[in-house]
Amino acid sequence: MKVYFIGAGPGASDLITIRGAEILARVPLVLYAGSLVPPAVLTHCRLDAEIVNSAELNLDQQMEYFQRARSVGYDVARVHSGDPSIYGATAEQMRRLKQLGIDYEVVPGVSSFTAAAACVKTELTKPEVSQTIILTRTDGRASTVPPEESLGKLAAHRATMSIFLSGQYLKETVAELLESYPEDTPVALVYRATWPDERSHVSTLGRLLQEINPVEWKLTTVLLVGQALNNETGVDSRLYSADYSHKFRNTHTSREN
Ligand SMILES: C[S@@+](CC[C@H](N)C(=O)[O-])C[C@H]1O[C@@H](n2cnc3c(N)ncnc32)[C@H](O)[C@@H]1O
Repeated sequence: MKVYFIGAGPGASDLITIRGAEILARVPLVLYAGSLVPPAVLTHCRLDAEIVNSAELNLDQQMEYFQRARSVGYDVARVHSGDPSIYGATAEQMRRLKQLGIDYEVVPGVSSFTAAAACVKTELTKPEVSQTIILTRTDGRASTVPPEESLGKLAAHRATMSIFLSGQYLKETVAELLESYPEDTPVALVYRATWPDERSHVSTLGRLLQEINPVEWKLTTVLLVGQALNNETGVDSRLYSADYSHKFRNTHTSREN
């Protein structure tokens, strides 16, 4: 018997991995994070599966499901939005499973920050602009951010940032970012990336709050910020340069057009 932590992806049912979908099609018990995993993803489950919304359960109650499954020898799918390793509250479950002697495995997923980048059709790392992506969030009721990782301190790097779980603090977030990033820094808000009601707004840090109504971006929104968001900035990487040879391409043997 095993518990599979499965990344559901950002929302669209075809953005779960094949491995994740195959496990869902096989297991009799599925616990899923109902606030963020849309019903469409659960269409991969077998028809007679018991499907339980974990948002309504505390940790002990979730463990009861896992223990019950063990007593009858069932595998369980524990479905988390995006990738389970990012703000998934999976560590506490893993600790408990270990104490209970229940085996588990993690199946990665497409995180919402990459889905957000896809939505606004950009690359988050660009040569000579930014080669670093900071994934962070503002303080929340359920989890606090260590002071040395405050938005202000992270912003000082002026790297690309993806800010999760912070829609309700949009004004404060933008104010803190503006202490380090210039006003013309590109910014993108993406709500429910890959869901049927996905929407996005691309702007600059200086203009953003004049153009949107923050209330409309409170939930399930990722904020991307950084010069790299602008596809027109930066230089070409050397990777595909005609005079750049490497293990897989020799400039002398490359075909001439
Ligand atoms: C508990 S975290 C889970 C993150 C998830 N593990 C991931 O890898 O995307 C929830 C936050 O992720 C972001 N999020 C999750 N799904 C999203 C989506 N489809 N579009 C935009 N943001 C999303 C939002 O910031 C939301 O508040």
